[in-house]
Amino acid sequence: MSHKIAPSLLSADFLNLQADIEMVNNSDADWFHCDVMDGSFVPNISFGFPIIKQIGKIAKKPLDVHLMIVNPDQYIPVVKDAGAYMMNVHYEACVHLNRTVSAIREAGMKAGVTLNPHSPVWLLEDILEYVDMVLLMSVNPGFGGQKFIEYTLGKVSRLKEMIEKKNLRTLIEVDGGVNLETGKRLVDAGADVLVAGNAIFGDANPAEMIHKLKSLV
Ligand code: DX5
Ligand code: ZN
Repeated sequence: MSHKIAPSLLSADFLNLQADIEMVNNSDADWFHCDVMDGSFVPNISFGFPIIKQIGKIAKKPLDVHLMIVNPDQYIPVVKDAGAYMMNVHYEACVHLNRTVSAIREAGMKAGVTLNPHSPVWLLEDILEYVDMVLLMSVNPGFGGQKFIEYTLGKVSRLKEMIEKKNLRTLIEVDGGVNLETGKRLVDAGADVLVAGNAIFGDANPAEMIHKLKSLV
């Protein structure tokens, strides 16, 4: 199975969001990646659930929602109502991760757990079988357009090994500084989903860039 591409709308043109959503609809992309920031867990504020709900009305592909917020538990019904397919919460923001992940699945969404660059993958050893996707941050979350952190590649390989050893189907997604060069190495290391913001929306031909990222082998 080929890897998936999830364009991050954080780098889209907010004055003309509809055009960018339609571009993604008509491209080789698989998901829409929506970044929610609260100015507390990360030093930036992006957009919230009413915007995601509007995006969902015209998006023809699943919404991959990445919550960079404290206490994500309290928003599970709201995220579901906004139309999320995948709800990603940060390991570092959840005191009772087992409860959070169960509640996300009970609400009818796929559960994703995100690790900041400093958090090792072995932290997820025991919960892995209850998680649909692990999102590895390859930058410190909060901003688009940052430089890829190299040691993420080792984390992808080690996580892949853990998943295969346990005979699981957990997906590995990578987010931050992904472009054609880092994307190729991530796919080789075992990444299943590539998020890209700046590389796609900063390109003169975003649909073509999505196609190129999707064609990496
Ligand atoms: C960063 C966000 C990312 C961001 C990636 O905190 O989680 O999804 O949009 O942007 P690029 O691909 O430009 O690094
Ligand atoms: Zn993200």
